Amino acid sequence: MNILVTGGAGFVGSHVVDAYIAHGHHVVVVDDLSTGRRENLNPNAKFYQIDITDFDELREVFAQEQIELVNHHAAQIDPRISVDNPSFDARVNLLGLLHILECCKEFSVRKIIFASSGGVLYGDAERIPSPEESPKRPISPYGVAKLASEHYLFSAKQTHQIEYIALRYANVYGPRQPAKGDGNVVSTFARLLAQGQSVTIFGDGEQTRDFVFVGDVAWANLLVTERLSELNRRPVRSIDDLAFNIGTGHETSVNRLFLKLKALLPSEGNARYTPPRVGEVRRNALEIAKAQRLLGFVPRVSLDEGLQRTVRWVQQL
Ligand SMILES: NC(=O)c1ccc[n+]([C@@H]2O[C@H](COP(=O)([O-])OP(=O)(O)OC[C@H]3O[C@@H](n4cnc5c(N)ncnc54)[C@H](O)[C@@H]3O)[C@@H](O)[C@H]2O)c1
Repeated sequence: MNILVTGGAGFVGSHVVDAYIAHGHHVVVVDDLSTGRRENLNPNAKFYQIDITDFDELREVFAQEQIELVNHHAAQIDPRISVDNPSFDARVNLLGLLHILECCKEFSVRKIIFASSGGVLYGDAERIPSPEESPKRPISPYGVAKLASEHYLFSAKQTHQIEYIALRYANVYGPRQPAKGDGNVVSTFARLLAQGQSVTIFGDGEQTRDFVFVGDVAWANLLVTERLSELNRRPVRSIDDLAFNIGTGHETSVNRLFLKLKALLPSEGNARYTPPRVGEVRRNALEIAKAQRLLGFVPRVSLDEGLQRTVRWVQQL
């Protein structure tokens, strides 16, 4: 298939590109390299350095390439930036998506996979692990934009017969993850410990996250690509019917994560505790029964194995 991956030079997007190419797909990447890196680009992908907020340039890519499916990973991903500058966040995360939808309509592209976020949509959930139907309580403008994006996609399905699936990721970690930014705790800790430096833990460190290895996330994208039409033939009433949580279903505390990394990277570095960050979710894990049932998705890389692979990558930097 001829697939456009937006954000294909970024952390998750570049692993998705690699998985597609390994499975014989032809891939076109659109990325403005704002946080993505040229080194992440698969040499067998065709690359356009383009900002998705520039409609004319994006339209030109659709005009040149015979795109059959858009896998949309390009985004401003830092919730704190979205709090400080919500209009910038909306320009990239909402206007960018609308540009893609308009191009899809004009060039008759009927398939989209969208990178959403379970962590930010469900917020402080009553039920953990949280299923797709959990109440949506995004706090940051970034989370609001992810939720609104799913609604725009749902609307496009009704109005333009676009088949889509939203993948609501947990905390993705693994090689190529930059240290900067919110939620990059694995990458940040691993890099600091590798340099013999101490890490900062906000609050008491007992807050939990669901850490899913990036290779498993790329695999989930492949599974959805194969089943997109079939999944869209099911009756749908809400955005939840076209969304899949992609995580492990397990909670790991920041303290436990620190100890695991410290065991892999013995160093002088220690944990320093500072006051908790305002608005930080206390517990988070995603229920993945639906992805298991309808996609055949079961995480294949354990946390210990995934951390070892991440540490090996950090040590080569
Ligand atoms: N990493 C996670 O834990 C996680 C969790 C939930 C959801 N997601 C989502 O997955 C996607 C990928 O996240 P990531 O962690 O790989 O982040 P990332 O920053 O590495 O990737 C985003 C990519 O988009 C590109 N980009 C940003 N603005 C752009 C623009 N205006 N035009 C073109 N390209 C642009 C960046 O250069 C980068 O390559 C995002 O949509 C993010 O919201 C990630």
